[in-house]
Amino acid sequence: METPLPGVAGADSLLGEVEEAEAALRAAADRALDGPASFDAVIAADQKIEPRDMMPDAYRAGLVRQIAQHAHSEIIGMQPEGNWISRAPTLRRKAILLAKVQDEAGHGLYLYAAAETLGVSREELDQALLTGKQKYSSIFNYPTLSWADVGAIGWLVDGAAIVNQVPLCRCSYGPYARAMIRVCKEESFHQRQGYQSLYVLAQGTPEQRAMAQDAVDRWWYPSLAMFGPPDADSTHSAQSMAWKVKRFSNDELRQRFVDMCVPQAEILGLTLPDPDLRWNDERGHYDYTSPDFDELMRVVKGDGPCNRQRMAHRNRAYADGAWVREASAAYAAKQQSKRKELVTA
Ligand code: 3HC
Repeated sequence: METPLPGVAGADSLLGEVEEAEAALRAAADRALDGPASFDAVIAADQKIEPRDMMPDAYRAGLVRQIAQHAHSEIIGMQPEGNWISRAPTLRRKAILLAKVQDEAGHGLYLYAAAETLGVSREELDQALLTGKQKYSSIFNYPTLSWADVGAIGWLVDGAAIVNQVPLCRCSYGPYARAMIRVCKEESFHQRQGYQSLYVLAQGTPEQRAMAQDAVDRWWYPSLAMFGPPDADSTHSAQSMAWKVKRFSNDELRQRFVDMCVPQAEILGLTLPDPDLRWNDERGHYDYTSPDFDELMRVVKGDGPCNRQRMAHRNRAYADGAWVREASAAYAAKQQSKRKELVTA
């Protein structure tokens, strides 16, 4: 029998925010027809910058950096969970995991398409990832050691991703904001399936429960680190927030994530591995122990547990996929010449 899933406290309000951002995007699209406005005025009025609008070079470069890094993260992020597709415990779990990993590929594609609207080609973006010129999220450089890791990734990693990404549905660059609406709706489902999977394990045998707790112990701090360095050390936050690409700082989002996870962990009956985690009445937030930011920087620079493995796999997959790219380019060229023949006939 299906185990009923208790509410994922906090997640519902995040989904509500995505829907509000979607409505605001539609309204912004209508307002954009009112006439041309300068970049600063569009930003000040909380409207959207669109691909053909004038924009400062640094705004364009900053967006390419962030959107590309985000797209690469989705693509590399398929690896740790893909590791468990062939070993999922039931057919149902396998189908869910397959769909989820496939969703991540789709997210990568929406994001690459959004980056391309800024004048960078897909091939340039692929090469930037493959040569290590552009980064991807630190979190995907950790190993998935047990089946419970799939649940912990869904709950914590996808949970952190939606806390970070829901505000991006309101970012100032139209194509990025629009891509994020669909990404966040799907991430919300990913988080729920992970939470449900972990809930089942936590209610299971002592061994299953211990496996779930071990996974949470290993993924908690890397998930906190996903939000980036502390605000005082963040290179891009000030400018990015002034241009309304980022809406909240790294530390603000990290705190929001902690506050959301504590009640969820209580429902799961699992312990977050932080002895100093406690409610602070004065601040109206949970106090918590920060992740090891030196470790974050080491992982970002290529020295995490799985960086080399992830990049080797990606390079191999890219080389193996050459025939698919060639075949689809040949097909597209053939279709185009057929269309031309029809027009000139
Ligand atoms: N992993 C890798 N690099 C990171 C990082 C992390 N967790 N956190 C920060 N960095 C890097 C930044 O890219 C920057 O390096 P750069 O100048 O060489 O590009 C440097 O550390 C300093 O950090 P900043 O705070 O100045 O950087 P940002 O202002 O860009 O903030 C961010 C970092 C919060 C990750 C922001 O870029 C962002 O919100 N990006 C969009 C979301 C994203 O990319 N998420 C990745 C996860 S995707 C995912 O989780 C998929 C899902 O399916 C699970």
